[in-house]
Amino acid sequence: MGRARLLVLPLPASHIVLLSKPKPKPSSVNMSFTIPTELLGGSYSEEMKLAVRLALKAGENMSPYLESKGTVVGSFAESSLDIITKKNEVDFCTKIDLVNEDLITNAINEKYPNHCIIGEESTGTGKPASLTNSPTWIIDPIDGTTNFASGLPFTCVSIGFCDGGEPVMGVVFSPKTCELYLAMKGLGSYRNGHRIFSTSCEVRSSDKKDGDTLPEKKLSNSVVCFELGYPRSEDAIDNMLLAVKRVMLHGCRTMRSYGSGVLDLCYVSSGRLDVVYTGVDEEGWSPWDYCAAMVVVEEAGGIIRSLKDDKQKFNEFDKDGKLITESKFDIYSSSMICGVNRIVVEECRNVILGL
Ligand code: IPD
Ligand code: CA
Repeated sequence: MGRARLLVLPLPASHIVLLSKPKPKPSSVNMSFTIPTELLGGSYSEEMKLAVRLALKAGENMSPYLESKGTVVGSFAESSLDIITKKNEVDFCTKIDLVNEDLITNAINEKYPNHCIIGEESTGTGKPASLTNSPTWIIDPIDGTTNFASGLPFTCVSIGFCDGGEPVMGVVFSPKTCELYLAMKGLGSYRNGHRIFSTSCEVRSSDKKDGDTLPEKKLSNSVVCFELGYPRSEDAIDNMLLAVKRVMLHGCRTMRSYGSGVLDLCYVSSGRLDVVYTGVDEEGWSPWDYCAAMVVVEEAGGIIRSLKDDKQKFNEFDKDGKLITESKFDIYSSSMICGVNRIVVEECRNVILGL
């Protein structure tokens, strides 16, 4: 087999020189970010190259703050973020969100003046623009802004691209954990250059020895993730907590809440999480929380669908295993459930909704 050709992109400077005395990174950390050959050969490789460059640059804007938070150097760092509240006190953005969105939109406008762009911060508190069939970029310049402001590691830059009205390419960069997720429709998902799968089955089938059995993933042995979002009314809190209670009473391995919807989906794409859901009440997400990560998770074999909308069905296959109806998750949906396989998604959905 020929050697894979890799496009090596420069590491953001902030990962090389962070503070006055940089310590060498552990060798396990991948110090360069590559676009695998398989993706370079795809229809959206030019868009992906641009998105990777911009996501790394936006991550570079975030790193000095994340690295210095809690140190003497970073004592007054939060006040320098110029926090602006949006819908309420807990929904806010920082000046880095705005700088990142400008950086990304300006570069896209320059290279693709005819493309549409839907960005979280340009949308503000208004309704996101509708998705048309035209090439459209959907951007979250910082997902997990609260984590970012608190110096917590679960925060990322998300750049998705849609063509013909559907997400086809996704780039997600998490600067604190140094992870770059890339995916293109039909060509798979990658983390730091390595192919990833939501279930262990496909990864292991080639390595499987006689007698090996794969653990069956069901709700009782799943790690389930949810987000509390921004609602603070008593009813909304009761409804969200009722869902958590139902899942825990039914039985699951544990529950987690990381504060970045985009990374939650990326974590399902590599089986770190088994299920993630949102939209039990008003905590549902927006198109920029889904677009890029939806490509990542679906290309890794994960299942994503609306939590509440019964009309949205799963993929349907005929008796020979041929796909008859392909379900499509609507990135404007007010609720969502995503998991490593269909069984666990259906089981968890029934439990949350009390069906
Ligand atoms: C938020 C995060 C959070 C989710 C919210 C999102 P932001 O994004 O993804 O986990 O619960 O609904 O709005 O505001 O940090 O970009
Ligand atoms: Ca955001």
